[in-house]
Amino acid sequence: MTVLDTRHSTSTVPNYWEAGLPALEPLGGSPAEPDGPVRALLAEGARLAQTPFGVAVLRYEDVSRLLRDPRLRGPGDDILTMQGITDGRLFRRNQEILLFMDGEDHRRLRRLVSKAFTPKAVDRLGPVMRDTFAEQLGQVVPHGRCEAVADLCESYPIHIICALVGVPSNDWPLFSRWADIILQSLSLDVASKLGTIEQAIEEIDEYVSGLIAERRRDPGEDLLSELIAVEEEGQRLTSSELLAVTNMMLVAGTDTTRNQLGLALFAFATHADQWKLLGERPELTAAAVEETIRFSAATGGLPRVTLEDIELHGVTIPAGTFVTLLSGVANHDPTILERPDELDITREVPAGFNLLTFGGGPHYCLGANLARAELQEALRLAAPALRDLALDGEPEWREPFGIWGPRRLPLRWST
Ligand code: HEM
Repeated sequence: MTVLDTRHSTSTVPNYWEAGLPALEPLGGSPAEPDGPVRALLAEGARLAQTPFGVAVLRYEDVSRLLRDPRLRGPGDDILTMQGITDGRLFRRNQEILLFMDGEDHRRLRRLVSKAFTPKAVDRLGPVMRDTFAEQLGQVVPHGRCEAVADLCESYPIHIICALVGVPSNDWPLFSRWADIILQSLSLDVASKLGTIEQAIEEIDEYVSGLIAERRRDPGEDLLSELIAVEEEGQRLTSSELLAVTNMMLVAGTDTTRNQLGLALFAFATHADQWKLLGERPELTAAAVEETIRFSAATGGLPRVTLEDIELHGVTIPAGTFVTLLSGVANHDPTILERPDELDITREVPAGFNLLTFGGGPHYCLGANLARAELQEALRLAAPALRDLALDGEPEWREPFGIWGPRRLPLRWST
């Protein structure tokens, strides 16, 4: 654990806890809009807030800048070490997961993975996306109602990740189960699930090792074959890195995308005019995806730790402070966007605005284009099929921590 003692700052500027910042517990809003009160604070001019763990940063300009500031690092081992996990299969695996790495090791691995995870690799998945989502949609459309999380969102991304990596299509249920288990390693209750998580890592590693051996003998048109072939200045990915990258795709690319799809469907079910417009003007699909990702973000708070004292808006944030960059709130910053709390798929975004839902800087989401393509294919098919989309009861929501979205989303439409 590298969170340092924060009480020995040498700066004369007041420390953040002495500055009377508004307190967030954790976000304080309703289940469907957990960041509502923080957005209200931002609209009133607040820039920083105090959280039970440290400081939250609200403004677009600050979040965007701090994501690129080398004086802050990513979450590293903290999620595990703060729960007393300092060794073992999961701990070792996380040492090779890009999101938890920093510095030169991160740069090297990211460069190698990016060489294989290209726009071409995403483009060739278009037909799989269309077929997979069309099949799921076809099963529910005639009924006029569904529970969208289970029926439309949950298994869609896992099919696509399997197709991306090169896993035979019949084996996706195995990966779905492993993904669900391994995703629990992002929670604050890892210790009680550690045995199951490590067992799932062992099983997926055994499966993928077999796949790697096959692809070494007989390369195909898939990410795994390309990752095996990737080389830069004589460097290649080791077998252990290949396993970690597959693991990472599964974790980073499933829960995020299915929650973001659930959030998009909720947004449209509660904004009938925008859904109708999208049904009439399919050319707005890409803009609609951008706007729903901005409007409500599955990843609205990005954890960072300060490596040295930082002064921001008249307060000192000492080295070792846990800083939450509220990217989802910053996407609603009225100093950069007009009418930020309106969902408007025809919105003209100002030149200086880059969506923060995928992060920014060295850890910017590697799968952003894949996620966008998945959401675009889904909405392109759903908008004309689910006419008069509306809620069919109260949704249930996940806790606003880590990856957020609906747990249950009852929807209805005209048949
Ligand atoms: C809508 C869906 C998605 C959202 C909202 C999302 C969001 C994010 C965010 C916010 C980060 C940066 C986290 C930070 O800086 O702390 C990130 C990193 C990452 N994402 Fe995504 N993501 C999505 C889909 C995907 C997909 C489909 C993949 C891959 C198949 C993927 C792979 C990654 C990887 C590998 C990283 C780590 C990059 C690094 O640390 O260098 N993501 N994602």
